Amino acid sequence: LKRVRKRHFQQAKENGIPITGLTSYDALTAAIFDEAGIDFLLVGDSAGNVVLGYDSTVPVTVDELIPMARAVAGAVSRALVVADMPFGSYELGPDQALQTAFRFMKETGAHAVKLEGGERSEEQIRRVVEAGIPVMAHIGFTPQSEHQFGGHVVQGRGEGAEQVLADALAVERAGAFAVVLEMVPSEVAKRVTEAIAIPTIGIGAGPHVSGQILVWTDFAGLTGGRYPKFVKKFADLRGQLLDAAREYRDEVTGGTYPGPEHQYE
Ligand code: KIV
Ligand code: NA
Repeated sequence: LKRVRKRHFQQAKENGIPITGLTSYDALTAAIFDEAGIDFLLVGDSAGNVVLGYDSTVPVTVDELIPMARAVAGAVSRALVVADMPFGSYELGPDQALQTAFRFMKETGAHAVKLEGGERSEEQIRRVVEAGIPVMAHIGFTPQSEHQFGGHVVQGRGEGAEQVLADALAVERAGAFAVVLEMVPSEVAKRVTEAIAIPTIGIGAGPHVSGQILVWTDFAGLTGGRYPKFVKKFADLRGQLLDAAREYRDEVTGGTYPGPEHQYE
């Protein structure tokens, strides 16, 4: 099985073949998504919400993400693994960004890093790329800045479209190999995808992009509570696990599990 490389992202866009991505935070799901042929796995700082129980990505640290990235990178044989740089680990400037990127590359086996911001992160992206580390950019709605945006707000409406376009051009200029476009109107995502040569990876950005990514617990229907409009639940893992746990409880308390076939002589 040939490993996915950053050049395959470029080729996919040129050939009109959509790129597929999911988040993953552990070896178990990484192996499953890799076997399913998902092209890249993002060890996202969405781990803050999904795994660590925070109510945003803001508190997530590099030290928390490193063991997750190591587990994911160690479990795949084909997918390209991207490690997310958390809030506060790159904004101070190119030196800090490169130091953080070095940690992910040396300590985890990830193949690329991701950081948020367009024009404001241009110098950081350039420095990390110059050091030989592939960078995936992330523009539109960037969750680490949710307090600046005032919540989970669609970006690029009206006048805002020009800023999203300027951000896309900035990250391409800086050398990013792909860019995540989060929560932007489909028409804006289409315009951006046509305006730059590197692939766009949409999440809440409609179909006119080079690929898609979703948080795995959302696409699998494991997350509790309300889902964003852009999510499609491809399974109902929450319902299935709930049923399984209740059945287990009932069988243990009712004395039907373990049965004869589950016992040692
Ligand atoms: O952390 C994350 O899961 C992400 C994706 C939603 C793009 O950044
Ligand atoms: Na993220």
